[in-house]
Amino acid sequence: MPTPARKLVVTGATGKQGGALIRALLAQQQPTQPFAIYALTRDKTSRSAQALAAEPNVHVIQGDFADPEAVFRQLGGKPWGLFSVTMPMDARREEREGKGMVRAACEAGVEQYVPTFLSLWYWSRLVNRFSIVFTATERGGQTKSDTTPTSVPHFRSKYNIEREIQARSKASPQQVTWTFLRPVAFFENLSDNFFGRGYVAMWRLNGLDRPLQQVSTTDIGLIAADAFLHADSEEYRNKVISLAGDELSPNDAAKVFKEVTGQELPYTYPVVGRLLRWAAKEQLGLMFDWFVTDDFGVDVKALRKRYPFMQDFRTWLAEESAWKKA
Ligand SMILES: NC(=O)c1ccc[n+]([C@@H]2O[C@H](COP(=O)([O-])OP(=O)(O)OC[C@H]3O[C@@H](n4cnc5c(N)ncnc54)[C@H](OP(=O)(O)O)[C@@H]3O)[C@@H](O)[C@H]2O)c1
Repeated sequence: MPTPARKLVVTGATGKQGGALIRALLAQQQPTQPFAIYALTRDKTSRSAQALAAEPNVHVIQGDFADPEAVFRQLGGKPWGLFSVTMPMDARREEREGKGMVRAACEAGVEQYVPTFLSLWYWSRLVNRFSIVFTATERGGQTKSDTTPTSVPHFRSKYNIEREIQARSKASPQQVTWTFLRPVAFFENLSDNFFGRGYVAMWRLNGLDRPLQQVSTTDIGLIAADAFLHADSEEYRNKVISLAGDELSPNDAAKVFKEVTGQELPYTYPVVGRLLRWAAKEQLGLMFDWFVTDDFGVDVKALRKRYPFMQDFRTWLAEESAWKKA
């Protein structure tokens, strides 16, 4: 029996995490791609959407989190999975849209297979399955993250979306399963522009020797791909994985940056950092305050044992950053 095309909706497909997941899936060395990838964008004509459309097995669909049902109507069949990325600028909206996407995905249902006598075993493994991988945010270690929404609005919205997914999974006769990825701060915040310099300025205000856990979005994509490929496994079925590839202070980062690039770690004036934290208090200010009062709590060493490929800051700088050697 040929493998059915499992329709996987990837949100944030033109962005960092969704894009990394798609790259990871396309790099799979399998005779047939296990998924038909439906990459969501608000603008099919954008350069990044067009680049995705040129990839084999990727169908670009246009839509908006504001109208989640319309997203799933474009599939021409039932979805098998959803990679859910949410937008944090307005936490209430993030929660509404995140929950809306989950609701629409669950209501759109799962692939149904008509069983025959011979295909019963095969059918029993595939019927009534719908997998959600939701990428949230780490909130201070596994136990704390499971129970604490935190004081940061866009951490709280993700906490509430996680609860919604668990409730739907529990209630759903479709046997909705989930994996929550909880990444810490992205290395990619260190971009070669004003935002990158502003990010470092905000970070430095918390203390030059205070470590902050960080992770590469490529690794988030690789682990999300693994979660979909092994959605039924003990490792991923209804499991949470917190993700961090390194833990370093601004002083540590400056040292590594100099060693790898020969340049000084770029940042801007402290007053700009303060201004950014004040102006975007809900998104940035409260989060940087939380890094001091609470902070991420990933066991980086244990995670590296599980995923030895995970990048530390040095590797990310040398291989992926804007400063990588050509
Ligand atoms: N930065 C960090 O350090 C960090 C750490 C942990 C967690 N996070 C979380 O990561 C999430 C952001 O993920 P990311 O950085 O991978 O995203 P990103 O690179 O900023 O990309 C945003 C993506 O979302 C899509 N999008 C935006 N608004 C949309 C809408 N209304 N409807 C449909 N699609 C929409 C965009 O698609 P189009 O533009 O093509 O429409 C794009 O693909 C946030 O929730 C943030 O809190 C960030």
